[in-house]
Amino acid sequence: MCGIFGYSGKETIVSSVILSGLKLLEYRGYDSWGIAVTSKGKTTIKKKPGKINLAEDPKLTGSTGIGHTRWATHGGVNKINAHPHTDCSGDIIVVHNGIIENYRELASKFLRKHSFVSKTDTEVVAHLIEQELSKSKDSKRAVLKTFQKLKGLNAIIVFFPKSNELYAIKNSSPLIFGTDKKKKSFYLSSDVIAFPKDVEKIYFLDDETLLSFGKNSYSLNSSSGKELKLALTAFSQDVRGREMGAYSHYMEKEIHEQPKILSEFVATKEKEIRNLAQKIDKAFGSYLIGCGTAFYACLAGSYLFSTIAKRHINPAIGSEFSYLVDFLKKESLVIPLSQSGETIDIISSIKHAKEKKAKIYALTNVYGSTLYRQADYQLLLSAGPEQAVVSTKAFSTKLAALLLTAYTLRGEFETGKKLVLESVEEIKKILTSKQNKQIAKKLSKKSHVYVLGRGPSYPIALETALKLKESSYVHAEGFAGGELKHGVMALIETGTPVLVLNPEDETYQDTLSSAYEVKARGAYVIGISSKNNSIFDEFINVKDTKEATLISYAVVGQLLGYFTALAKGVNPDRPRNLAKSVTVK
Ligand code: F6R
Repeated sequence: MCGIFGYSGKETIVSSVILSGLKLLEYRGYDSWGIAVTSKGKTTIKKKPGKINLAEDPKLTGSTGIGHTRWATHGGVNKINAHPHTDCSGDIIVVHNGIIENYRELASKFLRKHSFVSKTDTEVVAHLIEQELSKSKDSKRAVLKTFQKLKGLNAIIVFFPKSNELYAIKNSSPLIFGTDKKKKSFYLSSDVIAFPKDVEKIYFLDDETLLSFGKNSYSLNSSSGKELKLALTAFSQDVRGREMGAYSHYMEKEIHEQPKILSEFVATKEKEIRNLAQKIDKAFGSYLIGCGTAFYACLAGSYLFSTIAKRHINPAIGSEFSYLVDFLKKESLVIPLSQSGETIDIISSIKHAKEKKAKIYALTNVYGSTLYRQADYQLLLSAGPEQAVVSTKAFSTKLAALLLTAYTLRGEFETGKKLVLESVEEIKKILTSKQNKQIAKKLSKKSHVYVLGRGPSYPIALETALKLKESSYVHAEGFAGGELKHGVMALIETGTPVLVLNPEDETYQDTLSSAYEVKARGAYVIGISSKNNSIFDEFINVKDTKEATLISYAVVGQLLGYFTALAKGVNPDRPRNLAKSVTVK
C-alpha cells in the first residue's frame, strides 16, 4: 500500500524531486513519510509521522535519493517506524512496499548480532544486505540474495549513499522506472502518476529482476545475475488527476470530471466493448470480480447483463474468488474490475484463474498496472488518475462499460451509448444542484443512515452507503428493499434517515412500498427518483434514463458522501486507516 520513490541523475534539488513524487503517491498511504538524500557528500535522512508538507522540504542539492510514504502494517505510526530504514552502519538505506512475511524468522536465523531500532518488517532488508556484504563486497549480488530470502509480495529500493547507487527489485508489488528524453535523470516509483513531466520513457519492472542505477547508467539483471535488455516504452502522462485546480478536494474534482470522461468513453471505446461482448458470448461461464466499490460495479453488471442481455454472469468479491475457482475451465472468462490494477485480492485471484487456464479480460484504469500486464485482454477505463482515496469516476466508467457491453451483446451498442449520454446530461444538472449539500448537512448530524434499492439499484445502494461511510465516517448501510422485513427494519426509529433509490423500472412499486413501511416506523425518507411522492420528506429529482439511471444515482451518492464529509469537517480525500491501492492481504 505504501508509495516508494527514487531518483538518480543530473544534479538537482533532489529533496524537492523526491518530495514532489511522494506527494503524488500519498494516496497509497499517508500516516508518515521519509526521505534519504545525499548532498555534498553528506547523507540526510528526514522522516516524520503525518502527511507530507512540502514547506518542510530541506531543499538539498544532490544527484541521488529515495523516499517513502507509509501505510503502517508492522509497527505503530511514529518517526522510528517511518521509512527509510538502515543497517547497523547507516550505509545501506531501504524503502519498501509490501509485507515481508518471514521477517521474524529471517531476523532470528541470520541477524542475531544486528541491532534493530524499529518494529517494522522492512528493517531486516537493510541488515540482510549488510550481512551479505560481509561475505562479498558485491552490492548487486547482496541485494539479489537478500530479496530471494524474502517471502511475500514486496517492492524495495536500496540506496548505497557512499557509491550513489540505487537498486530496485519487486515481486508483484508495482515498481516502474522512468527517464527523460536525454536519459540524464532516472526515476523509480510505485505509480507512474508520480513521475515528473520530463519523464518520456518508462519500463515496468518484471518480478525478481534487479534494476541497478547510478548517476549516468542503468542495467537490468535476471535473478541469476544474467544481464537483460531493458526495453523502454514511450510514456505520455495524463495529467488530469495531478493538479486540483480550482476544486477544494480531489474527490470533488473527480466527481465533476465524470461527464467529460463518460462522454469520451462512449465515443472512443466501441471497438474494445465489442471485443469484450464477443468474448463473453463465446465463453463458457463469465465471472465479474472486484473489491469494494469495484465489486459493487460487478454486482450492478450482473443485473445489467441479466436485464439487458439475458445473460447470467457471476459476480464475486475479489478476496472470495480464489474459493470459487473450482468451477473454472479453460473456456471460462474472468473479468476483473480494478481501478488501480494492483489490488492484491484481484491479482491473486487471477493467478488462480490462470492456473485453471481461464482467460482474463481486465477492466482497469491504470495502463501498465500488474492486472493490465497479466490479463489476456484489456479494456482501459481511461478515467484519468484517481487521486482521492475513495473511488468515484472509475466506478461510473465501469458502470458505463458494463452497460454498453450488455447492450452490445443484444446487438444494440448505439442504444447503450445513447442512454449513457442521456445520463451524462443529467449528471451535469446534478452537479450544479445545491440540494445534495443541504441534505448532507442533515445526514452529518446522524449516527446511522440506511440506503434502500432493489434490482440494479441495490448495488448502487451499497455503493452510496460505502461513499458515506468512508468519506464521512457516518455509519451507513445499503440493503435490498426486499430484505427490510428480514431484519433491518428493527433499526428504524423516529428520524432515521433512509435514502430510497426509486427508478421508474420494474422495481418502482415494490420500492415505494418499502418506503411506506419505513415511513410508518418514523423514518426520514429521502427519495431519489424521477417521480415525487408524498411519502418523501426530501425529494432528489433524477431523470430516468433507463438502465443508465444507475450512473446518475451513483453520482448523487458520491456527492452526499463528499458533502457529508465536509459538514463533519473530515478530509474526504484521505479517510483514516485507508489507502487507495490495497496491495497487501
Ligand atoms: C471505495 C474504494 C475501494 C476500492 C477497492 C478496489 O471508494 O475506493 O473500495 O474500490 O479497494 O480498488 P481497485 O478498484 O483499485 O481494485
